[in-house]
Formats: sequence, structure tokens, C-alpha cells
Amino acid sequence: MATYLELPTRGRMPILGLGTWQSLQGAARGAVKFAIDVGYRHFDCAYMYQNESEIGDALRQKLQEGVVRREELFIVSKLWSTFHERSLVKEVCQKTLAALQLDYLDLYLMHSPMGFKPGRFLPLKIKMKELNSIGIPTLWFSNFNCEQIDRLLSKPGLRHKPANNQIESHPYLPQEELIKFCQFKGISVTAYCPLGAPNWPGSKPDHISLFDDPQIKEIALKHNKMAAQVLIRLQIQRNVSVIPKSVTPQHIEENFKVFDFELTEEEMETLLGFKKRYRICALSE
Ligand SMILES: NC(=O)c1ccc[n+]([C@@H]2O[C@H](COP(=O)([O-])OP(=O)(O)OC[C@H]3O[C@@H](n4cnc5c(N)ncnc54)[C@H](OP(=O)(O)O)[C@@H]3O)[C@@H](O)[C@H]2O)c1
Repeated sequence: MATYLELPTRGRMPILGLGTWQSLQGAARGAVKFAIDVGYRHFDCAYMYQNESEIGDALRQKLQEGVVRREELFIVSKLWSTFHERSLVKEVCQKTLAALQLDYLDLYLMHSPMGFKPGRFLPLKIKMKELNSIGIPTLWFSNFNCEQIDRLLSKPGLRHKPANNQIESHPYLPQEELIKFCQFKGISVTAYCPLGAPNWPGSKPDHISLFDDPQIKEIALKHNKMAAQVLIRLQIQRNVSVIPKSVTPQHIEENFKVFDFELTEEEMETLLGFKKRYRICALSE
């Protein structure tokens, strides 16, 4: 089983990475350092997570110590939605690079297909009128659906095909159609919230717990694994990159031990065949 995904750019992305959303101040640095020691080489960052400078400290330290070389790392960051205007992109990308203490990123994604009006930083509760009219066209790529991808790919004069689409995916939102569509178009896919984001800040009363699902627990038990490991393995076996977030050393280590077992076809069908549907990351007015 490949531990890398080949990108259309001929780059190679480690299939398993560490998510860093909500890795809070004081925790992100330690988490990234520990993860590098465990063997993680792919880190999913974003300007919006407001922790890139801590992550940068951790990367610099491990690079200086010679634990890892820059070319072994795969660092992703994302353009926040208030910076979609062409004139704003370079400056905010440079801020990310300065915070991460790097001179290049391996992948730079648009955090969302929709731009917000420049200025306000975090309109997580978005009024639809605050969506900017810039739309998709000049930049890409995270949270794109099939129609948005088609519109982008058919843009006259498109010079570079996007390398990756980062989308929410777990057994209650398997995204089969979108993943197959991206892979057919030669666009790699990364699954976020792969564990169902158990501590999601905007949790609703009906928030799912994949860890409590009896069928997922049963599959984990059969393999002598934890539910989290089954959820990560599910994405790897679909050739989808996966970025579970953790700042807890025990979880960081556990989430990396997913290359020593294989889910059967029947188990994959069960994990992708739930009737229950739940989207964690949804824009709300
Ligand atoms: N492109 C986008 O729009 C977008 C949106 C959402 C997320 N993302 C990216 O995807 C990453 C992952 O998504 P997510 O953070 O929302 O959710 P997630 O990875 O599904 O879940 C993270 C939560 O699970 C806990 N956890 C991790 N490993 C565990 C284990 N082995 N056992 C029990 N609990 C465990 C973590 O707590 P501990 O820290 O205590 O381990 C954390 O609370 C983000 O961090 C971010 O990098 C991207």
C-alpha cells in the first residue's frame, strides 16, 4: 500500500498527515515536534488556524537538529477567504511563509471556494451577502464540489490543473461520488474531519460520535485496533490522503500505526455504506 500520493505536479504527498486546526497556542509546537519524531512528514496548516508561527518554531527546531530535511516534509497551507482578491494573495502567502519559517510550501490551497469581503477575519457565521462575488475562477482549492471543479477545469486558458481537493470525509459523509470524480480528473483528494471531529467547537446536540458506532467498534475490535485507526485506514485504502488532528501524544502515535493492517472489502463496504449522513463543516447563516 502506497504511503505517498502522486500529484499531477509530479510531487509526492505523504498519504497521512497531521491536522492542526484547533491545535491551540502552547500545544501546536509540541504536537508538531512529537509528530516529526513519530514519523509524520505531512502537516496541514492554514492562516486561519492562527498557529502557524508555533508550527514554524517546531519545524525550524527539527530541521536545525537534523531530525528531518526540508525536502522530506510536505507542508500545506491555505489562503483564507478574505484574501481572494488577486492583489492580496501574495502578501498573505508571504505572511504564512514567514510564520512557518519556510521559503516554500508544498501545497497552497484556497480554504474555501467562496471569497468573503476583505477585512473581517473570521466570519464563521456568514451572512450570505458577505460572500464576495469573486467566485472560483482565479484560485483554488479546498471544499470544491463536482460542479465547481468542472467549471474550473473548463476555464479557457487554464494553465495548471489543481493538484488536490481537500474535503470533509468520514463514514457518515463518505463523498464517494466526489472522490471518484476528482480521481478520474487526476486531482488527488485529502479527507479532513476523518475522525468526525469529536471536539468540534460548533457542536450541535446531534453531533455524531463515530467512535461510539457499534459497527465501527466491531471492525476495530476484529483488528485489535482503535476506532480512530480504522477511520484513518479507511481513507488510506481509498487512496485518499488523511489528516487527523491531535495534540495528544498518545493519539498522535496511535493515529500513525495504520500501516500494519488491512480492512477487508466487506469492511470497506460497511464503512462506506452507512445510511446516516452528517456534515460537520457547514456554512451557517
Ligand atoms: N479545508 C478545510 O476547510 C478544513 C476543515 C476542517 C478541518 N481541516 C483540517 O483537517 C484536520 C482534521 O480535521 P478536524 O481537526 O476537524 O477533526 P478530526 O481530525 O476528525 O478530529 C480531531 C479530534 O479528534 C481527537 N483525536 C485525534 N486522534 C484521536 C484518537 N486516536 N482517539 C481519540 N480522539 C482523537 C482530537 O483530540 P486530541 O487533539 O486531544 O487528540 C481532536 O479533538 C484539521 O485539523 C485541519 O487541519 C480542514
